[in-house]
Amino acid sequence: MKILFVCLGNICRSPLAQGILEHKSSDLGWEIDSAGTNGYHLGEPPHNLSQKVAKARGIDISNQRSRSYTAADLSHYDIIYVMADDVLEDVKRISGNLFTHNKVKYFLEELPGQTILNVPDPWYGDEDGYEEVYALIDKTCDAIVNKYKK
Ligand code: 4NP
Repeated sequence: MKILFVCLGNICRSPLAQGILEHKSSDLGWEIDSAGTNGYHLGEPPHNLSQKVAKARGIDISNQRSRSYTAADLSHYDIIYVMADDVLEDVKRISGNLFTHNKVKYFLEELPGQTILNVPDPWYGDEDGYEEVYALIDKTCDAIVNKYKK
């Protein structure tokens, strides 16, 4: 599996998803990356609170660097998970004619029973928001591993 997670800044939500899924799928040989659509934080490491909540569970995401989502990602990856509506709109715009719903999905579609498809953006809040988002991403990554592992 080749999986890409996309959020706006690629510093809060998608780096957590990348780190958590890499950790859970380490014996499966999957290729996992993350990217952002707004380019405001290019080259930066994940937000210190994303790093902190991950490190508290033994996951080190400090080596990640923010990069931009590009249309080429759509050809390369099997699944592109978007974190929210606004990210989906950006991915459609950036992908142009290549866009297809066959590959681009809401991340939270993978969580059984989930009706709200937007992962809250912790950027505007405090550490509790990062903890909440961590827990949501963690259980959704469990569902992804169970669904796609052979
Ligand atoms: P992310 O959070 O999309 O989860 O990385 C954000 C980080 C930065 C900004 C927006 C969202 N920003 O506008 O700078």
